[in-house]
Amino acid sequence: MTDIAKQAAPAATDPGRVLIFDTTLRDGEQSPGATMTHEEKLEIAALLDDMGVDIIEAGFPIASEGDFAAVKAIAERAKNAVICGLARANPTDIDRAWEAVRHAGRPRIHTFIGTSPLHRDITRLTTDQMVERIHATVSHARDLCENVQWSPMDATRTEHDFLCRVVETAIRAGASTINIPDTVGYTAPRESAELIAMLRREVPGAEAIIFATHCHNDLGMATANSLAAVEAGARQIECTINGLGERAGNTALEEVVMALKVRHDIMPYTTGIDTRRIMQASRLVAAVSGFPVQYNKAVVGKNAFAHESGIHQDGMLKNAETFEIMRPEDIGLSATNLVMGKHSGRAALRAKLGELGYTLADNQLADVFVRFKALADRKKEIYDEDLVALMTDTAAGA
Ligand code: KIV
Ligand code: ZN
Repeated sequence: MTDIAKQAAPAATDPGRVLIFDTTLRDGEQSPGATMTHEEKLEIAALLDDMGVDIIEAGFPIASEGDFAAVKAIAERAKNAVICGLARANPTDIDRAWEAVRHAGRPRIHTFIGTSPLHRDITRLTTDQMVERIHATVSHARDLCENVQWSPMDATRTEHDFLCRVVETAIRAGASTINIPDTVGYTAPRESAELIAMLRREVPGAEAIIFATHCHNDLGMATANSLAAVEAGARQIECTINGLGERAGNTALEEVVMALKVRHDIMPYTTGIDTRRIMQASRLVAAVSGFPVQYNKAVVGKNAFAHESGIHQDGMLKNAETFEIMRPEDIGLSATNLVMGKHSGRAALRAKLGELGYTLADNQLADVFVRFKALADRKKEIYDEDLVALMTDTAAGA
């Protein structure tokens, strides 16, 4: 095995294996208001490590003493995952990132620079100066650490010829993962795929490295763009739990992982994630970040496995596959939730009452059903306690 293959072992040995790079603790935490404490970061990192995340981006060590301490502590505790620290394209940042990750069993330095015309204006570097900077900084990182990832920030708005030139420079300087960020969530699925395909075709040395995709969700296309990149040959997806991240967030880990699992028939790629831990991770990140998960969020929303309409509930009771493409147990939920409300039908009411210990003859059910509908017209959602009260009133002849 080459050095590069060893660093990214699963993907290197299995061409269909996609590495999951979680950046909840770095890009996710950058979300305004999502700051986490040291202990909370350790708890999240331990769960990500346990659930099979391949690479954990633990933070941005130069950003603060707190970030440095958290990345270092996560690196010291990690059991399986590669632990990565972010650094801008300068030796001070890179040295600090290395100090923080060096004690990990499998450390990685991730260094980046904005390459689009807008970013070149900000850094006031000519294209030649930028290429020199990339060569120098990636080489410096590589002198410290075997495993170096490099990102051209705003790649999707960088001229293609310049993007090829900088990617080639980073590969020559020793980067083994090249991440292609859609920093402002601007790309679309076909373009995302074409960009990865173009880089793989045009850049000398591309066959020896892993391309990563890092998408933001400004137009709601982060998951689609990430999957399109995988279909074009990217083998690392950068994502966060619940899609936490700046502005509209990053690609959601639970979405890409479950999409690859559920639609393996048309996307024959695998991840190492134990999907049964997804709900636990979602709840933990929501609790510590203070960012609640929207009710209808794909995969982990409160309503993702909830059914209220009579037709859906009836279908679910007969065969869960009628209205569910994944099983709640696959993400760590115990069961589908039949929500009782004004759209529910008799079959669901009978089933729900059965769960609560009531077995009703048809004529009794008909009577309770009328009372239930009247209640549901007054109340948005009917809880188990409401049904028990309804049964008690019915028995008392109220
Ligand atoms: O979105 C982005 O460009 C980033 C880089 C630092 C990789 O998060
Ligand atoms: Zn980002």
